[in-house]
Amino acid sequence: ESFIAYAAAAPNLALIKYWGKRDSRLVLPLNNSISVTLDDQLMRTVTMATASPEFAEDFVELNGKPVEVTDRMRAVLQSLRQRCQRGQDLASWKVRVATRNSFPTAAGLASSSSGLCAFAVAVARLADTLRWLSTVARLGSGSACRSLFAGFAEWSAGQRPDGVDSTASQLASAGHWDLRVLVCVVGAGAKSAPSTQAMARTVATSSLLPARLSCLPDRLAAVREAVAGRDFASLAEMSMRDSNCLHAVCADTYPPVHYLTDASRAIIDFVHRLNEASGRVVLGYTADAGPNVCLLAQPADVHLAAGCLQRAFDIGQVVGDLGEAADNSKVP
Ligand code: DP6
Repeated sequence: ESFIAYAAAAPNLALIKYWGKRDSRLVLPLNNSISVTLDDQLMRTVTMATASPEFAEDFVELNGKPVEVTDRMRAVLQSLRQRCQRGQDLASWKVRVATRNSFPTAAGLASSSSGLCAFAVAVARLADTLRWLSTVARLGSGSACRSLFAGFAEWSAGQRPDGVDSTASQLASAGHWDLRVLVCVVGAGAKSAPSTQAMARTVATSSLLPARLSCLPDRLAAVREAVAGRDFASLAEMSMRDSNCLHAVCADTYPPVHYLTDASRAIIDFVHRLNEASGRVVLGYTADAGPNVCLLAQPADVHLAAGCLQRAFDIGQVVGDLGEAADNSKVP
């Protein structure tokens, strides 16, 4: 006897970044974050989870190769075992989780967000308990809870120590606004610090972090408004400012955390030159815990921007498209 469940999730790109936890065990953030989930036709993680009384231990594989079952994955499994609606038998069975990414990990596009989101949804389907998805996905990786939704999502920091109010919700569906993302794959620099450790070090050492946190409420409000009104210039500006702010806070961390390379910075400067020369905001950019830079564009500008980029740089690129992505918040 065994149970099988599937799930798919797409990576999300943070426009207002999550950086710093108020509780690391429960994965509760210091600030709200807003993201856009990429089109799952182009980039997605597909996960199959199987539970059987015959399995001796939990087992996880990624793209066909066994990977370490991390403490975070164990926390997800543990949390779902406690909530399992299929009876105590299944709750004590071990699971096998097989995951495949449809995009190169080299794209560095928060593969943890789609990976841990699909992991949480697949195991939640096994356990037949979908009520606590934000909480469960968050335990795998904070950013994963935003990938439960297609389109634009906001993850509320919440205030309660138990985290029940720290959940993600959808701000706008993917169909609300047709935007494009160009991922500039800058190639790996020095091995960057994993975000979990780096953000803990920022919280412990950065004196700029409080300044970042105090300007976020206004910035979040501006992004919500830009999304609601489909105001590209404002959305792009807020994303660029927040990305710059995140990397400034990383530089202020002691010892400092460096994700951007000279190549990343050259792309950032290029965007500002292009926007200035065009007399309008053609592109926005944002970069996470790695050197790749994601560019935001309106559909009509993608070819112009891609052409200018290719002429200016020797970079590989993936063109992503924010279409209708699977919405895991409404699981059948
Ligand atoms: C820079 O979600 O990977 O991408 O919760 O510790 O697993 P953990 O961190 P993670 O951090 C993502 C950081 C970021 C910004 C963001 O996605 O909001």
